Amino acid sequence: MEFSHEPVLLQEVINGLNIQPGGTYIDGTCGGAGHSVEIAKRLKYGRSDSVTPITISSDGKISEETVEETNIGFLIGIDRDPDAVKIAEKRLEPYDAVVANGNFDEMTEIAARYEVFAADGILLDLGVSSYQLDNPERGFSYHNDAPLDMRMSKSGLSAADVVNTYPIEEIIRILRDYGEERFAFRIAEAIVTAREEKLIETTGELAEIVANAYPARFRRDKNPCRKTFQAIRMEVNGELDHVANGIGAAFELLKPGGRLLVITFHSLEDRLVKRRFVSFTKGCTCPPDFPECVCGKTAQGALVTRKPIVASSDEIAKNNRSRSAKLRIIEKLA
Ligand SMILES: C[S@@+](CC[C@H](N)C(=O)[O-])C[C@H]1O[C@@H](n2cnc3c(N)ncnc32)[C@H](O)[C@@H]1O
Repeated sequence: MEFSHEPVLLQEVINGLNIQPGGTYIDGTCGGAGHSVEIAKRLKYGRSDSVTPITISSDGKISEETVEETNIGFLIGIDRDPDAVKIAEKRLEPYDAVVANGNFDEMTEIAARYEVFAADGILLDLGVSSYQLDNPERGFSYHNDAPLDMRMSKSGLSAADVVNTYPIEEIIRILRDYGEERFAFRIAEAIVTAREEKLIETTGELAEIVANAYPARFRRDKNPCRKTFQAIRMEVNGELDHVANGIGAAFELLKPGGRLLVITFHSLEDRLVKRRFVSFTKGCTCPPDFPECVCGKTAQGALVTRKPIVASSDEIAKNNRSRSAKLRIIEKLA
C-alpha cells in the first residue's frame, strides 16, 4: 500500500521553526517525511559522516577541506513505525538526512548517535498517520475489518491483548481517560461479556460490540466506535506517557533560541502540551504563600504564540484531518 499522508499546517510549521540553513533539526514523528522533506530542502546542505570533503590544488596536492561546522544543516527524522522509516529514508535520500526507528522520548540518545547534542528546532506531529489509519493490515480503523492490532511500532502489546485480557475496571478507565467516552461502563461490560464466549480478534468484531452497546439515540452524529478505538490505540501505544516524556526530552535538547513545535489532534494531548509549555515559561515554583522565592528557578522558555495555531479554512477544505490540528510553539530562552 502506498504511503499517503498530507502534512498538516505545513507552512505554519516551516515558519514556526524559523529554519537556519546551517541549523540542526529533529522531526520526532517523521511519518512519510511530509514535514521533514520541506525542512531538509531549506537546509544549506546535508552532512555525510562517511565523507570528508577534499580539495585538489593546481599542483596536484590533495588536502582535506575544512568544513565550517556552523554552515552545515542537518536533519534527524525519528519514527517508531518501521514502515514509516523505510518510506522516510527513501524520500529524504536526496537530502542526506538520517532517519532512525525509535521513540521520540529517546531522542537524546538517538541524536547522540549522530553526534548531535543540541538542536535548533524540533517538531512533534502527534498521533497516527493517514497511512497507518487507512492501511487495513494495521488494525487501527473501524472502517475495515482486520486483525485488532493498532501497534505503531509493530511490536509489543496489541489492541487484541488489551480487550481480551484487561480487567473490566481497566477498560473503563482507558475509555474514560483516553476516549472521554460517556458510555465507558456499558461498552466495557459488553466487551467482557463478548470475550467470555469468544476472543475478540478483529476490528469488525470490536466495532460491532461497541455499536450494540451504544444507546441508539446517541449513534446518530458520529460513529459510536470513534472514542473507543482512539482510547484503545492510546493505551496500546502508551501515547500520553510518551508525549509527556518526549516534550521534556525535546525541550532539554534545544539550543538557547531553539524552538519546539507540537501538533496535537485531540484535547487530552493539547491540554498536556499546553501545561508542559506553561511550566517552562514559569520561573519560580515556590508555593504562592511563600513571602519570597527560595527555589531560585527562572523561566526557561517563552511561548511564541499565546493561542494554538489552527488550520485555515482552505486547508480544512483540502484535508479534513487538519480540522482538529493545533500547533503550539515554545522558544528556549538563553
Ligand atoms: C501524524 S504522523 C506524522 C506525519 C508526518 N509529519 C508527515 O508529514 O508525514 C505521526 C507519526 O508519528 C509516529 N509516532 C507517534 N508516536 C511516536 C513516538 N512516541 N515516537 C516516535 N514516533 C511516533 C507515528 O508512527 C506516525 O508515523
